[in-house]
Amino acid sequence: MFDSLAVLPPDSILGLAAACRADSNPDKVDLTLGVYMDETGLCPVFEAVQQAQQDLVQEEMTKVYMPPQGDAAYLQGVQSLVVGAERGATLSDRLTAIQTPGGCGAVRLGAEVIFAAAPDTTVWVSDPTWPVHIPLMGSVGLQLKSYRYYSPAIRGLDFAAMLEDLEAASPGDVVLLHGCCHNPSGVDPNSEQWQALATFLVERALVPMIDFAYQGMGAGLNEDATGLRCLIDHVPEMIIAVSSSKNIGLYRERAGAVMFLGGDARAAEAMASQAVSAARRVYSMPPAHGALLAGRVLSSPALRGQWETELAQICQRINGLRREFCDALISKTDRDFAFIGEEHGMFSFLGLSVEQAQRLRAEKSVYLLDSSRINIAGLNALNMDRVVDAVSAVL
Ligand code: LMR
Repeated sequence: MFDSLAVLPPDSILGLAAACRADSNPDKVDLTLGVYMDETGLCPVFEAVQQAQQDLVQEEMTKVYMPPQGDAAYLQGVQSLVVGAERGATLSDRLTAIQTPGGCGAVRLGAEVIFAAAPDTTVWVSDPTWPVHIPLMGSVGLQLKSYRYYSPAIRGLDFAAMLEDLEAASPGDVVLLHGCCHNPSGVDPNSEQWQALATFLVERALVPMIDFAYQGMGAGLNEDATGLRCLIDHVPEMIIAVSSSKNIGLYRERAGAVMFLGGDARAAEAMASQAVSAARRVYSMPPAHGALLAGRVLSSPALRGQWETELAQICQRINGLRREFCDALISKTDRDFAFIGEEHGMFSFLGLSVEQAQRLRAEKSVYLLDSSRINIAGLNALNMDRVVDAVSAVL
């Protein structure tokens, strides 16, 4: 049966992270995978999470299955983090949430619910977007189309082109947006653009779906939610895919949630019930450990305060690295890299060709994606000069 089954090539992101791990050069630099790394190159566990974990290990009495919708404390915590406590109360039962295995699980269950409601829906994704969005949503059976987003020519968002492309969308189509820290470009709409987008979506009866994986890593917890909250104040229906991988550092624990805003309470309940049923078809119920930790962190005032402080430090460090890196690149290459200082979150394109990206990996052991996306958080005081020299060499 499997004799002629094709062996697939490695994933475009995970495959390069593996290539870096296999490189024996002691000076190699890994800027591939979107994980936060501290000054020593370690992806650390938040102290607040460590504390929650010690408490959980002491107190956990059972490993019985999680409820299908997930941990109530986690879902409550995520909801108030994402929409804010006041909005959560106003939207009340029009907003439902289901715990998922990471942000991927959230995107997938969101897609399943769209398909259940209207299988002919087209989902519009940004060009470029996180490459996994395409198989995650497409394999459910939804049709995907792309809208122009990042323009290499202006090294920024081409908002006019984005709206021009979305003019072709039909009422009921879904527009997938990155809530903040766009992956892979680091380029987000500004507040006026979010406002304009909200009006545009309402006028054309388009449904936003927000991938929200980096809250707190761009400018701050509330600042990074500005766009999403602007949309939720205007649109009647919306889906939000939340990941706790990055901002609570729970990567391998696979903690996430999908939130549904329905036109009324019945619709929101229907969406959640469809998500639970889709999960049952595939993996039954969500994993416990990460969500239980995050639920504790988000609901305990002491742990929450500690976590917010740690996250703010991470955010500051990333933004500091952005400034340092762009200054160093400008002085070394005499080219305009100022955009790196203005973008948000962990990712930026360096603006190199595929061939230059390949040379950086092969000749310099500096690992980045073919698109020249780098993880800014992979830079540190020890490797910064090396990366700047290597980029300058391939330019
Ligand atoms: C990334 O874009 O590198 C991260 O979101 C990790 C992943 O799973 O691709």
